[in-house]
Amino acid sequence: MKKELILLFDTLRDPRDLAEVIHLGLAFDIEIELTGNSIQPTHVKVINILDSWIHDFRDKPQLDHISIHSDFSKRITALKKQGYKIIGTSSTIAKAKPLSKYEFGKGKYVIVFGTETSGLSAEKQELMDEILSVPMKNKTRFFTVRAVAPILAFEALRQKGLI
Ligand SMILES: C[S@@+](CC[C@H](N)C(=O)[O-])C[C@H]1O[C@@H](n2cnc3c(N)ncnc32)[C@H](O)[C@@H]1O
Repeated sequence: MKKELILLFDTLRDPRDLAEVIHLGLAFDIEIELTGNSIQPTHVKVINILDSWIHDFRDKPQLDHISIHSDFSKRITALKKQGYKIIGTSSTIAKAKPLSKYEFGKGKYVIVFGTETSGLSAEKQELMDEILSVPMKNKTRFFTVRAVAPILAFEALRQKGLI
């Protein structure tokens, strides 16, 4: 498992979303963290979806790459102390930098995704070192986390030469 990139999702409630991000973590060999009141990775609906994608998943669940941390702020503070740079994501925050203008350097990064309903609150934005957006056209307003996470993760890994 690569330690240079973690994807952190604030409160994932939908089993399909969680199955998608667990699958993404396995496919890219990166860690997934959940904060807040997220659905459990061992939830039967999550396991059943993953079992339909990954052979034998129900009998041999691969969940070592996912961890849950109830307090968002405490977890971000702890990751900062471990030397991670904290990258928030948003389609709506004016100061967000377009992904194509950002350079992921050599260090360790956490990419943080807001909730499906309200995104990253102003208080949580304050904890970020940088905020990135994937620009959108034609009156579209935001991606779902399961659509946008692979774009950001792939680009970070590509720039760091890890994919
Ligand atoms: C469904 S969106 C949240 C929508 C929410 N109503 C808002 O206005 O922020 C869920 C999360 O996906 C990420 N996201 C969605 N669209 C994005 C984009 N175009 N660029 C970067 N991140 C995006 C952000 O982390 C966002 O908090």
